[in-house]
This record gives sequence, C-alpha cells and structure tokens, in this order.
Amino acid sequence: MERLDKRLSATGRWSRKEARELIRAGRVSVSGQPCRIPETKVGEEAPVTVDGAPIGADRPIYLMLHKPAGVVSSTDEPGERTVLDLLGPEHQGLGLFPAGRLDKDTEGLLLLTNDGPLAHRLLAPKSHVDKVYYVEVDGVLDQDDVHAIREGVTLADGYTCLPGDLELLPDGGAHITIHEGRYHQVKRMLACRGKPVTYLKRVRFGPLELDEGLPKGAWRPLSEAEEALISRQ
Ligand code: URA
Repeated sequence: MERLDKRLSATGRWSRKEARELIRAGRVSVSGQPCRIPETKVGEEAPVTVDGAPIGADRPIYLMLHKPAGVVSSTDEPGERTVLDLLGPEHQGLGLFPAGRLDKDTEGLLLLTNDGPLAHRLLAPKSHVDKVYYVEVDGVLDQDDVHAIREGVTLADGYTCLPGDLELLPDGGAHITIHEGRYHQVKRMLACRGKPVTYLKRVRFGPLELDEGLPKGAWRPLSEAEEALISRQ
C-alpha cells in the first residue's frame, strides 16, 4: 500500500504538490471512486485515474500469459477478443502489449509488457531468440522431418528457414525449436513436409518457460529471476 499522492508523483508526471492539488480538486479516482484525500493508502494493483484517464505505469511491467485459442495477439482489433481483454482493469491503460504474436488458434506462452526497448531486443530478427512449440500434425512426424528441420526447410515462398530442431515425443507430438519468428512459421514449415499442424502451443520463449501451473487464459507477473533472465537478452 502507498499514499495516493506518492503513487501519482511516482509516475514522474506530477510533483507531490501538484498531485495533492489534483486529488483535493476531486479529479482523481481510485478503483472508479473519486478520492479527495492525498494520504489515502492505495493498493499497488488499484487502478488510479486522473480526469478519467489511467495514470500509466511508473515501472516496467512483465506478465506471463497462458494464451488460450480464440484470442488475438493484438491490443485492439474490432470484433475480436484480444489478449489484453484477458487482463483485469488494473492493467488497462498502462501501455501493455504482447511481445510477439501467436496465431489466434495457437496457445501458450506470451509475454505482455510495456517495456518497448526490451520487446524490440527480444523480437529483432538478428536476436535469434529461441522459441519452442509443442506441435501435433495431421500425419506422423519422423526422422526425415527431424533432418529436414535441422537442415533448414525451404518454405513455399522460397525462403529457407534457419536450421531449427525437432524432437519427437512418445505421444506422437513433437517439440519444434525455431530461432526466428516469421508469419505462421511453424505451420508453414510443417506444411512443406506435407504434415499440416493441427495443434500448436508455445512452451518456451527465450529464457522463459511456460508455467504449466497457469491455466489457459490466466497470467502472472514474471518472477524476479525471470525478469533478470529476460533483461539479459
Ligand atoms: N508459428 C505459427 O505457425 N504460428 C504461431 O502462432 C507461432 C509460430
């Protein structure tokens, strides 16, 4: 819990004195209720607005989301449910966005953050951040597919993918590792092998592993250890 005037001034947008004036003028609400007392203690997650607008984050935010199928990886898409719709009101208006995209029907690990420079580093093509997906296909994956993926598959448009990895699993599925993030990449790689993807779930993004304790559609903040790992990227 921290004082409301301190919470406002921590954003860097107002001095403590200006914050107190705004609060006393009745322009500040906490969890939707106007609050005129600068000393009021507010919870870290309580949404605070000035003139109805969220005050914004005073620190970078990193959330691990277990994306379910059926939601799109964008912040605003008319007619679609977006990954931001899965967050609570305390996380709206803070400039959060998904670092990278998963297709609407793909499940799994998605990092949501408001840290633009970090997302840029993670997503830059030259960063070659590893992404690991659990995949099921129509057909049977075999050693020929393993060799082809390790060599670098040439897609229908002529692009030759960087060498990846394919690990066959006893349940008939596989873990596929890629080091780039082209549009529909895994689906296109396996389509080239004549084995269309029927299920896709990202289980790793760089140093982050999907927390299997997170139900589909749920999220949690990264742990300090996870934040330290991604900040080294
Ligand atoms: N590759 C795909 O084809 N789809 C995804 O959502 C992610 C990687």
